[in-house]
Amino acid sequence: MKERTLIILKPDAVNRTIIGELIHIFERKGLKIIGMKMIHLTPEQLKEHYSHHVEKPFYPRLENFMRTCPTVLLVLEGKNSVEIVRKLAGQTHGKEAAPGTIRGDYAMGMQNVVHASDSVENAKEEIARFFKLEEIFDYERVDLNMIYSEEERV
Ligand code: PPS
Repeated sequence: MKERTLIILKPDAVNRTIIGELIHIFERKGLKIIGMKMIHLTPEQLKEHYSHHVEKPFYPRLENFMRTCPTVLLVLEGKNSVEIVRKLAGQTHGKEAAPGTIRGDYAMGMQNVVHASDSVENAKEEIARFFKLEEIFDYERVDLNMIYSEEERV
């Protein structure tokens, strides 16, 4: 199975009407969208998703922010997709993120536009948390032959 990663387009992305631009960034890089849906995340889902941060002082603010409005979840597939998407997203804090990255271009602080899985292991867990098997799709994207060389495709 090819590497997969979970992206959440956060409420600031939805409110600023930049969902399309963000999806385009992933598509044009060569990442294949194999799952996509809108979810208004519940406190329970957020506590599970951010379980290692629940005790931190910033957590209530993070949960409030993530519940401002529905979010858009994507499952992306591609060789090294976890690392590639983390690079595209940039540093966590908008102020630190390099220009040209998503957060570097769109964020100033901790309302940082996207969540991206930080490891292959966590990606598997996060995808299983939010997507049923039948919500993940297998199809050919013919242009990828132009983006990857033959040996890079597998
Ligand atoms: S830590 O403590 O270094 O592990 O935290 P970090 O990896 O920097 O952040 C974990 C996630 O919490 C979000 N975060 C915040 N959101 C809102 N306000 C504040 N102050 C804040 N601090 C951290 C941060 O964006 C990370 O969320 P994701 O969705 O994983 O990017």
